[in-house]
Amino acid sequence: MNYLWNDSLSSFWSAWVIVITLGSIGFAFWLLYANRRTDKTPDAEGNVETTGHAADGIEEYDNPLPRWWFQLYVATVVFALGYLVLYPGLGNFAGVLGWTQEGQWEEEVAEAEERFTPIFAQYEEIPVPDLAEDQEAMRVAERIYLNNCAVCHGSNARGGYGFPDLTDEDWLYGGEPEALLATLHQGRNGLMPSWQQLGENNIENLTQHVLALSDLEHEAERAEQGAAVYASVCAACHMPDGTGNQALGAPNLTNDTWLYQAPGQSVADSVRQTLRNGRNGHMPAQAAYIGEERVHLVAAYVYSLRLQD
Ligand code: HEC
Ligand code: HEC
Repeated sequence: MNYLWNDSLSSFWSAWVIVITLGSIGFAFWLLYANRRTDKTPDAEGNVETTGHAADGIEEYDNPLPRWWFQLYVATVVFALGYLVLYPGLGNFAGVLGWTQEGQWEEEVAEAEERFTPIFAQYEEIPVPDLAEDQEAMRVAERIYLNNCAVCHGSNARGGYGFPDLTDEDWLYGGEPEALLATLHQGRNGLMPSWQQLGENNIENLTQHVLALSDLEHEAERAEQGAAVYASVCAACHMPDGTGNQALGAPNLTNDTWLYQAPGQSVADSVRQTLRNGRNGHMPAQAAYIGEERVHLVAAYVYSLRLQD
């Protein structure tokens, strides 16, 4: 393989494509030439040659093709051949210009990087809360958000089942600049163990206690029994009062905001499911995908969401 030839096709298919392509062009050209007539002058009696086709007494003239049409046709053939010499099109022949889709894409990306990197570098100097007030920066940041985060957190950043709402006050890991930057740089792994081993009775008691923590309707007696278990196995992560621990990403259980409540699911069912199976939310570290400078900008975007309405 050299730079004029690549190996995207096996040699059989490459030859096949070349033969078919050049063959069709050659055939089209031959067809035109073989049927070419230049003589259109009427004979002595003023008769013009016809094709011999007739319908209702009307005969079809056998006139030559208009010159402009003929020339245009020849031009398209020349263009096609020229194109196939310069660009890839004939099987594994890469074209003498060496153009590739990947090459063009990479060139455009490199160009964009060159244009934007200094702008991002400038933004990186600005503290997150100030940057969040910069409308122009936030327009750029919103685009980064939509391209990279919206798949999981939603285009309005309100999240969904298992994906936290980034517009509310309820933070798993914290909404201050350092916490947001840490989330984006390191990624996050929420680990809520399964409590199957406590048995269904305890799981039901704990569920009633969690409902009580958020002031939701609950069975008082079960909730009380659940409180004792809660103090010994859950308080370490969710804190004795249930307000959670942002160092661990253990959610606040007292504010009736649920990361894992599926549409149409009751809070009680969501909590039971959490306790039986455990939960393991994964937020991928972002710098590897979007680069350091964009991390700073998109952190400011998340910070700016609290400033809206
Ligand atoms: C593959 C899905 C996915 C993508 C992409 C993603 N996230 Fe996340 N993100 C999550 C999940 C899941 C969590 C919750 C992790 C947990 O449960 O511990 C999370 C958590 C967060 C948190 C912490 C929220 C809190 O309450 O503390 C922030 C902030 C965040 N993401 C911002 C972003 C931004 C900004 C982007 C884009 C640059 C992004 N995420 C891209 C899935 C994603
Ligand atoms: C090792 C620390 C740890 C312990 C112990 C723990 N949890 Fe959790 N819990 C978490 C973390 C972290 C999450 C968030 C998981 C995620 O983000 O995917 C969570 C999530 C939850 C949720 C889901 C909240 C929501 O918004 O959907 C509930 C309910 C819950 N825990 C209740 C309990 C109860 C009850 C116990 C005691 C039986 C308990 N947890 C013990 C760390 C813990």
